Amino acid sequence: MTSRSLTDRLGGLAFGGDYNPEQWDEPVWKEDDELMRRARVNLATVGVFSWALLEPEEGRYDFTWLDAHLDRLHANGVAVDLATPTASPPPWFTLAHPDALTVRPDGTRLVHGSRDTYCLTAPAYRNAASRIAGALAARYGDHPALALWHVHNEYATLCYCDHTAAAFRVWLRARHGSLDVLNEAWGTAFWSQHYTSWEQVLPPRATNWHHNPGQALDFRRFWSDVVIAAYREQRDAIRAHSDRPVTTNLMLPGYQNIDLWALARELDVVSCDQYPSAPGLGAAADVAFHADRARSLGGGRPWLLMEQGTSTVYDGDRVLAKDPGDILRHTLGHIARGSEGALFFQWRQSRAGAETWHSAMVPHAGPDSRIFREVTQAGVAVARLGELAGSTLGAQVAVLHDPDAWWALGVDGLPTTDLDYHAALARAHHTLWDAGVTVDFAHPAHELSRYPLVVAPALFLLSDAAAENLRRYVSDGGTLLVQHACGYVDDRLHARLGGYPAAPLREALGIRVEEYRPLRRTEQITLSDGTQGTAWSESLRTEGAETLATYTHGMLAGSPALTRHRFGTGQGWYLSTRLDDAGHGALVARLLAEARVGPEMPGLPPGVEATTRRAPDGRRWRFLINHGTEPVSLPESAHDLLTGGTVSELPVGGCAVLRSA
Ligand code: GAL
Repeated sequence: MTSRSLTDRLGGLAFGGDYNPEQWDEPVWKEDDELMRRARVNLATVGVFSWALLEPEEGRYDFTWLDAHLDRLHANGVAVDLATPTASPPPWFTLAHPDALTVRPDGTRLVHGSRDTYCLTAPAYRNAASRIAGALAARYGDHPALALWHVHNEYATLCYCDHTAAAFRVWLRARHGSLDVLNEAWGTAFWSQHYTSWEQVLPPRATNWHHNPGQALDFRRFWSDVVIAAYREQRDAIRAHSDRPVTTNLMLPGYQNIDLWALARELDVVSCDQYPSAPGLGAAADVAFHADRARSLGGGRPWLLMEQGTSTVYDGDRVLAKDPGDILRHTLGHIARGSEGALFFQWRQSRAGAETWHSAMVPHAGPDSRIFREVTQAGVAVARLGELAGSTLGAQVAVLHDPDAWWALGVDGLPTTDLDYHAALARAHHTLWDAGVTVDFAHPAHELSRYPLVVAPALFLLSDAAAENLRRYVSDGGTLLVQHACGYVDDRLHARLGGYPAAPLREALGIRVEEYRPLRRTEQITLSDGTQGTAWSESLRTEGAETLATYTHGMLAGSPALTRHRFGTGQGWYLSTRLDDAGHGALVARLLAEARVGPEMPGLPPGVEATTRRAPDGRRWRFLINHGTEPVSLPESAHDLLTGGTVSELPVGGCAVLRSA
């Protein structure tokens, strides 16, 4: 068990980033010390990619250089988040253990030269990873600088090698028990896929046309279990020598093939990295989406933003710069939603190597730069927020997330490729964010009764247990919005027969979907309330529900598009297409009103983000961020932690953290 929390050890919230001093030399380290003090850095992530220096040859460790950096950081008042370097095995390792290199689905075995080129099922890799984690923990487990352990980095590599095939078979035997059950689950009666021995079963390697969907889904589940087992091994090797909290940094929403609910249960503190994929307001919405997911993964406990970029927006084939002021707005955007601080990748921008052009806290231009000035401003702001460490948020709305549903929408042979799981989740969240409401994410089988409103945007796969849970939620008084293509398959990817969605949910919704009719990429379908649908439509019958809007043309003319069913003491709403933004916003506003859920701070103009962190003793802090184009007057003046004074107006782009009396 861990002794003290991260913020106890730091004496406040965390501010800092990945620190790779091995890229530099003595004069730069001296400058780093001075600049870290200036920027109020109190936590540095060290050693993430340092395996080749820490273990220059198999079994021979060299910790002298790391000793010196940890001592220096400690003397400078900077605590350490010490990483295990296992995301980047050194060349000697891959040459000695070629069987531990990643194999792609097409059989290509990769070679070293980048990072993340390993196979988590290769015994040589797993042993080497646990060994170095244990060796680091034995040396630094109670180092006074040490505040947190950072296992690996963003576990994301999938592998299709023979080790993986063998491990996959072991996992399948445990899951299915017998080949007969596996054959039935995977529907191998079709296309002559029937297996007569376990040795015939393979990972979903490159093949002609569609993969078997059951095989593809089980492989995703299997790989998630492999990642969690690999994490646990390192964590346990560390815990044998150290009582400091242990985490691994997650990357949301879909970069890692992991059941993040399951992995989060293994973490002492959830930590996540976040790089927006759109600039401006899109980036702010992305920050909120990621932060709400990160908090929800830990069941509402405070979490930690492990990485963000000072000026990094991944936009397809280019990396865009952030807007002036975004460093502070994004930093506070995460803290506003439960992060215990904000860290960056990385402290000093590399002058050579693979990430030379990635933004950093100290850019190539040096400290006399807009970026470093903004970093310092953010560091000073975070240092003023120490009193809210440990406080949490409450949400009245939940958006449902199930990794099985995500993976189910990734298999071959679906009616359209337009059912993008994470885009649907982000859209549901964005609409609620626009409405000023704080959102949790929850698994469809979780206890949901504390949420007056639950939104289920993309549950193509729905297990029997989850369908029953949602039925009970509505019957017991909840308001549930289920969106198109929901509950079409069970947890083996077998189609629900007799009409979609799964029977218990049909009962709660009072409808039966008879036919799905995907729309062409540019097609729009008009509903009787004037809204437009895209991507998908359905022919459905009401079985107790009232019809709120119908389709107006084509074969679906006159048939229900949006329905509501009063069931038990709750309401089940069903929307059978993807609505345009205005229509979706209006629907969500109506549902919020039905469920009596108001915005976090009523009366704010659009574009002003508001959240509230609460301490168990009743203290409250309200975060306000003005993303709009006009200054905003506050309903009453209040004490702002950021300025230490009283504020009554929020300028364009401005932020405030108001302490309630
Ligand atoms: C993260 C990764 C960092 C760095 C960063 C660049 O995903 O953990 O090591 O590569 O991306 O954006």
